[in-house]
Amino acid sequence: MTIIARNGLIFQTDLDAFWTPFASNPGQNGSPSVVSRASDMHYYTPDGRAILDATAGAFCANAGHCRAPIVNAIKAQAAELELAPFRFTHPSAIALANRIAAVAPSDLTHVYFTNSSSEAVETALKIAIAYHNLRGEGARQRLIGRESAYHGAGFAGTAVGGTAGHRKLFGTVFAGVDHLPSTYDRDKQAFTQGEPEWGAHLAEDLERIVAVHDCSTIAAVIVEPAVSATDVLPPPIGYLKRLRSICDKYDILLIFDGSKSAFGRLGYAFAAERYDVLPDMTTFGSSVASGMVPIGGVIVRDKIHNTFVRGPDDTVVLDQGYPISAHPVACAAGLAALDLYEREDLFARALRLEPIWADAVHGLKGLPTLLDIRSVGLSAAIDLAPKPDARGKRGFAAMDRAFRDFDLLLHAAGDTLILMPPLIVGEAQVGEIVDKTAQAIKAVA
Ligand SMILES: Cc1ncc(COP(=O)(O)O)c(C=O)c1O
Repeated sequence: MTIIARNGLIFQTDLDAFWTPFASNPGQNGSPSVVSRASDMHYYTPDGRAILDATAGAFCANAGHCRAPIVNAIKAQAAELELAPFRFTHPSAIALANRIAAVAPSDLTHVYFTNSSSEAVETALKIAIAYHNLRGEGARQRLIGRESAYHGAGFAGTAVGGTAGHRKLFGTVFAGVDHLPSTYDRDKQAFTQGEPEWGAHLAEDLERIVAVHDCSTIAAVIVEPAVSATDVLPPPIGYLKRLRSICDKYDILLIFDGSKSAFGRLGYAFAAERYDVLPDMTTFGSSVASGMVPIGGVIVRDKIHNTFVRGPDDTVVLDQGYPISAHPVACAAGLAALDLYEREDLFARALRLEPIWADAVHGLKGLPTLLDIRSVGLSAAIDLAPKPDARGKRGFAAMDRAFRDFDLLLHAAGDTLILMPPLIVGEAQVGEIVDKTAQAIKAVA
């Protein structure tokens, strides 16, 4: 199929050559979804339709699309230094690490860059096991995730992830993990705005896991503090604090996967601030660069960093990494994005907008097939009833109709619709997102 864009470019959409991540099998008459341009709150299709973006691209274009200051920083960096050699660093990486450390809470001050959140999760879990090893506790290898969680596409991330759909095809290589129960119970929490009151006690399940495996075999617990690409699950009030104290009791490291929550989604630079809970490590993803270039990383506390850098001289500190991480162009994009977040006060803006957003989204309650709405920060999840024997089809159809008929980009994770607009979303656009989502839901009811 050939599509001719408004700017005259020709797109050859060859489905055989380009294997899109997570794409569904194309239907008989299915045509691929193609966008060819973006600006602020909108994507544009090759035939010129403006699509209102309620997903911040891949949940990371927090400053909006193609913002000029970031574009210009990328151009300038690419012209100046496009790639640092193996084991070298460069001014933009050093500057970005310092900027991130300055906005991260407490002694989360050491930034290890990766090229994605998936790599950040792999790195954090490897650091956790290596940290215990270096302290003479090499038996601490077990990793604890949580049911229904998503932690990226790496092997360790898939292992601690908690959905069968992401795990079942990949065999038995995920040994040595266990899972906390999901914090979600529709009967107890349906239609809660923000953090639900019920569920803090579910953190106590870590005691059960310790009783089964013994704490001397457990390296770390990893949780998304609130949001991921597959769900919006605000933590029950007090849940993360309880998890923190049980981890402390048994010397288990607590890792927050901040892939989607960091850099403003919850109204703060990091979820740790919103919940007043300090993890031992937090990951972050491409929202540090507003999604303009792939980048991610892990931020670790002093006690972990110090364990690795205590010598002897000239030995490799951490024998793992991604040689073209901290890529100069990504770091320049990150510095420009952080400037923009600060200049436009976008994190505080998200916090101010949160009640308006939540009221608007929860106004969808009562639509046909709608089972639950959850919201936190500038994000929301809408659960639709699955079609009988066709799990995920209604959600996918709603996403498809929203894009093709109502010029709205939303994301479907199974039958759950995920909304996470760029943080620059206007109040009128919040209304537009909700109206168009309602039309899409009705269209597939
Ligand atoms: C919580 C969480 N962790 C990790 C990832 C992996 O991110 P990436 O796809 O950028 O590697 C995602 C992706 O959606 C996510 O939501």
